[in-house]
Amino acid sequence: NTMLSWQRTAFHFQPEKNWMNDPNGPLFYKGLYHFFYQYNPNGDVWGDIAWGHAVSMDLIHWLHLPLVMVPDQWYDANGVWTGSATLLDDGSIVMLYTGSTDNFVQVQNLAYPEDLSDPLLLKWTKFSGNPVLVPPPGIGAKDFRDPTTAWETLGGKWRITIGSKVNRTGISIVYDTTDFKTYEKLDNSLHQVPDTGMWECIDFYPVSKTEIIGLGTSVNGPDVKHILKASMDDTRTDHYAIGTYYDSNGTWIPDDPNSDVGKSTSLRYDYGKFYASKTFYDQNKKRRILWGWIGESDSEAADVQKGWSSVQGIPRTVALDMKTGKNLVQWPVEEVESLRLSSKKFEMKVKPETVVQVNVSSTAQLDIEAEFEINKEDLEKIARDESVEAEDDFSCETSGGSTVSGSLGPFGFSVLTDENLSEQTTVYFYVTKGKDSKLKTFFCTDTLRSTMATDVVRSVYGSFVPVLEGEKLTMRILVDHSIVEGFGQGGRTCITSRVYPTEAIYGAAKLFLFNNALNATIMASFEVWQMNGAFIRPYSADDLVL
Ligand code: FRU
Repeated sequence: NTMLSWQRTAFHFQPEKNWMNDPNGPLFYKGLYHFFYQYNPNGDVWGDIAWGHAVSMDLIHWLHLPLVMVPDQWYDANGVWTGSATLLDDGSIVMLYTGSTDNFVQVQNLAYPEDLSDPLLLKWTKFSGNPVLVPPPGIGAKDFRDPTTAWETLGGKWRITIGSKVNRTGISIVYDTTDFKTYEKLDNSLHQVPDTGMWECIDFYPVSKTEIIGLGTSVNGPDVKHILKASMDDTRTDHYAIGTYYDSNGTWIPDDPNSDVGKSTSLRYDYGKFYASKTFYDQNKKRRILWGWIGESDSEAADVQKGWSSVQGIPRTVALDMKTGKNLVQWPVEEVESLRLSSKKFEMKVKPETVVQVNVSSTAQLDIEAEFEINKEDLEKIARDESVEAEDDFSCETSGGSTVSGSLGPFGFSVLTDENLSEQTTVYFYVTKGKDSKLKTFFCTDTLRSTMATDVVRSVYGSFVPVLEGEKLTMRILVDHSIVEGFGQGGRTCITSRVYPTEAIYGAAKLFLFNNALNATIMASFEVWQMNGAFIRPYSADDLVL
């Protein structure tokens, strides 16, 4: 439908049409990045799930390829669900995925490429002995899904984990295998957390404590921490924690039990719309890359009208934040910078309660990098001033958004905004003073006024962001028609939102800088790039003649 065609993105991965959800089995093979995904070939809403497939040389430009797996066996008749790839030492690939059987039982299946000499990996075979795993005793038939990439144990076996729940306890079940056909269940779970509900799409991987570098999934040792991520079915949010992995019994313990995986206090990859994510180790550039499914915030009826649903976020490099040791940092893969067109640099001093238009034309596709400093005297005055109320309870979600002013915020950018500022999405910092007079910084996105359409879920997203002594406040924003991705403080806190402007589209979309703080002047220094579109196109028969 052309009426809603401006919501199509220009450089985010999406199929030509229909429904998409989770990223599946990402890997780098023979010079190509492969991306598979949950796809409904028959409609714009979830159902009939098969595996879509695309390849890329740079994670930005993609060639869509034919479906690799469809629900054509009794053990996946109700869907070829989420799974992960493992690269074996001999160069071969195994894919483990969940099948929803003809009876709606969740089982794990094995598949592998028919021809390893084909860099496109066009043809896949399902193992004749499928399913290779069925729900173990005590686990519900519909609570057993999304196998991880396998990693090697010290004893030379492969180990995987699969998400589940027991009553309301989210749990990560562990199996060892040597051939991916027969498995031995470990007595312990990798980890479990009461009252978190079903864990979907578990991810488990090492990060380096000493270098900004990705690690292969089997790496362990004294300089390594392990990340456990689970997607919370109840809240549709991806939570992670940093901890220590024990090879001997296949368990993992979080560094900080108070922010354990799935607790309301735990860390999230992204505080906006971002779910069912999965990482892979890119042996090509020695980095770990995170893919996340970005669903819609509009109605199902609107999705049917526009003929598609969901995009994937720009893949992110993930690494442990070596400065804090307490969180990950996520950053759009460097290849996205190849889309940067003309850039403009700005230095602006913005007085309290001021909005200024940023003089850039055509702002529906942008990359922005910005640095902010609050005037020092203003900061000190507020810290000392006892008449300024403490804001210990501040949270982005409950704050009312970027129109609600405090002493030291909010300030930031208003993107996809029409000339009259009637439609706008704001990405901003809000600095609070606590009872102890200490300052605390939040990074938020407000979509409350992002559209005139009424069938859209609008929210204020965000969270606390660590700011270390001497650091300026920094943010990066990617804008692409109906998606806005914000990265606070080098990617310590990230927020993705889907927005549906009706006026602020194409050339009518403007960019503004605002300072809604009551008592602080802000120095902003930033660069804005217009972004080119990426080639994300269907294959033609000619493409596949080798
Ligand atoms: C997560 C999820 C997975 C499942 C797949 C089905 O979004 O529900 O748990 O395997 O999607 O499409």
